[in-house]
Amino acid sequence: MIIHTAEFTCSYVDWKKCPKEHVPEYAFIGRSNVGKSSLINTLTERKGLAKISNTPGKTQCINFFSINKEWNLVDLPGYGYAKTSKKNRELWMKFTKDYLRRREQLQNVFVLIDGRIDPQNVDLDFIQWLGENGIPFSLVFTKNDKPKKTFKNIENFKETLLETWEELPVNFITSSVTNVGREDILAYIDQVNETIANDIDLEEE
Ligand code: GTP
Ligand code: MG
Repeated sequence: MIIHTAEFTCSYVDWKKCPKEHVPEYAFIGRSNVGKSSLINTLTERKGLAKISNTPGKTQCINFFSINKEWNLVDLPGYGYAKTSKKNRELWMKFTKDYLRRREQLQNVFVLIDGRIDPQNVDLDFIQWLGENGIPFSLVFTKNDKPKKTFKNIENFKETLLETWEELPVNFITSSVTNVGREDILAYIDQVNETIANDIDLEEE
């Protein structure tokens, strides 16, 4: 997929206020600092599009970006540790979960997992919650700049998931330093977009 345009649209803290237009939507979530905003900039090849920071808890709203005027990309606040109060974190989690459960346009949630560390309960719990709520998702192992260093952790994570899941979800391996995985994610989004467009054509026939 070629990214012709990538524009920030608006930020929300209430899913009911999110854009009404019916275009396919893809959200990015994961622990604070896992690299969500960096990945969005890598995918769109726009360095400053989503705000990046070393301080966990940079993204605090539901941020919408319109891509090629055809689909929306959504940057969500991280879960887990963040440099903010417990009350703030609970508030972010509440509106984020409401958005994920209620948003009709949402086609897929990309759950980002830090490929450099061991499986974290907070990630496994969140994936469990997505499953219980029937929300479609795939996994993205981030910070894979040096595959030799991440390989074991990624395999470990998959094995841990298979203790409770019958099969693994679609998964990607990425690095915002080397851009590995960028094409794979965009191709996946392209494929889902095409399926939706074909379904609409069939309905109209
Ligand atoms: P919050 O918005 O705070 O939840 O964080 P986030 O998940 O959006 O992470 P962000 O993209 O802001 O990146 C956090 C830190 O990780 C920054 O210092 C990035 O430069 C770094 N980072 C992100 N992706 C990669 C990567 O692929 N490799 C390496 N080495 N560092 C990365
Ligand atoms: Mg962010």
